[in-house]
Amino acid sequence: MSTVPSSNPLRAGRRLRAAPEPSTMVIFGASGNLTHRKLVPSLYRLFLDGRLPPGFTVVGFARREWSDDDFRSSIHEALRAAELPNLDAELGRAFLSSLFFCPAEFGDKSSYASLRELLHQKDKERVHSGNRLFYLAAPPGTYERVVQGLGESGLVRSGDAAEPWTRIVVEKPFGRDHDSAQRLTAALRRWFQEEQIYRIDHYLGKETVQNILVFRLANAIFEPIWNRDHIDHVQITVAEDAGVERRGGYYEEAGALRDMIQNHLLQLLALVAMEPPAAFEVEAVRDEKAKVLRSLRPPTADRDGSAVVRGQYGAGVARGGKVVAYREESGVAPDSRIETYVALKVLLDNWRWADVPFFLRTGKRLPKRMTEIAIQFRRPPLALFGSEVARGLQPNLLVMRIQPDEGITLRFGSKVPGSTIRIHSVSMDFHYGTSFQQRSADAYERLLLDCLVGDATLFNRDDAVQMAWRYVDSVHRLWDEDASEPELYEAGTWGPSGARRLMDESGREWRRL
Ligand code: BG6
Repeated sequence: MSTVPSSNPLRAGRRLRAAPEPSTMVIFGASGNLTHRKLVPSLYRLFLDGRLPPGFTVVGFARREWSDDDFRSSIHEALRAAELPNLDAELGRAFLSSLFFCPAEFGDKSSYASLRELLHQKDKERVHSGNRLFYLAAPPGTYERVVQGLGESGLVRSGDAAEPWTRIVVEKPFGRDHDSAQRLTAALRRWFQEEQIYRIDHYLGKETVQNILVFRLANAIFEPIWNRDHIDHVQITVAEDAGVERRGGYYEEAGALRDMIQNHLLQLLALVAMEPPAAFEVEAVRDEKAKVLRSLRPPTADRDGSAVVRGQYGAGVARGGKVVAYREESGVAPDSRIETYVALKVLLDNWRWADVPFFLRTGKRLPKRMTEIAIQFRRPPLALFGSEVARGLQPNLLVMRIQPDEGITLRFGSKVPGSTIRIHSVSMDFHYGTSFQQRSADAYERLLLDCLVGDATLFNRDDAVQMAWRYVDSVHRLWDEDASEPELYEAGTWGPSGARRLMDESGREWRRL
């Protein structure tokens, strides 16, 4: 008998070994960016690795008068742009021939009747199962119409284990505030059980993000010091050098707070701060994450209103060239007050983390693309070494680099060689790339496969999403009360000066990246 309990996180890999059952995936919004840049390239990689089930079929549903061939050539182009192999060989042709297209209007009943027809036909010809994965990759304003269309046309099965399965994946943003997220959940729950709903956050599919829990819970030495007694503060940075690209219209509705903090950064925070789950199982993990989000303390304005800092990029230099200001991007209002940068100090009202600030920052048009979590430990309780001796010594720091250059660094003090005692900070480094000689699956590959095998561990449950919105809504209320505009920062710099003030006030500094 194995001595490793089945709930051990080290055995989580067994989930990847379950083979998905034959099924059809319907992508709503199949003519869009996400489908072309992320979803289908990930499906193709899974196909090349032999991980898709036999007869797997993709149906694109979108407002285009496309034929199957039009859809296939548009996807072919996207796969070529992504430099994926074997496109014109038999393998590539086989993959493309599994794609079909249903020209549609999201609010039109007859479109869902055509979809039903097409699905029946493909079930008979190719799939032989009736299992269906619906993927909402269309503009978020269409979600409720699509769900209703699916429900009313009888395309949603009950979720009863004896029947073929139906699951639905909902892309972010899941609503634009707490109330709209609740309405969306109500619309979904009219037709789907909670277990059939997969709220996706692609950060949770990143290899290094999954490693946060493994690092914490598969090593005995860190968990005992993972608390307010030993940790001074945590910094979570998601920096991007890109601007809003062609998504100005979407971004004007979202801003960095909704686009990044509500989901990716609060999810990273939840993984760092959660209690160990009773088992590495879907509801146990989700319960612990939800508890963290429930304990977020709503921010209050400091005397000078700097508890939450927002910025917007002006013109500058990024990625080696001159770039325009946010307000000059296409689809953006010339007097837009939307934030492209947010920095905030988050406090958690729970036993483990009381008074330990979590500093979060994210922004577009910063000097580089990089995501990391830095855990800074307290200083040693006794200054045994005089200040002269320890001048080069900084507190212990553990950095989890999520992307790029994935890895972990631990900083500690060491004696400088020589006859006198001098202390300096040095680092121990782990790099994924050199330690494991294998390609990490892309986040979407991992998450799509999880949907196909019915594993929702890495997807968000309704209560966690609602809690994150409650927090984000409280920041928006703060901003609404305060008539000021986001502070401008030059593109290619580390954001507005308010972010530095936020740190200065707490007597700490942002890491230089
Ligand atoms: C998306 C946001 O969710 O995440 C984008 O909508 C952002 O604005 C992107 O650029 C960042 O993802 P990644 O995986 O490139 O860090």
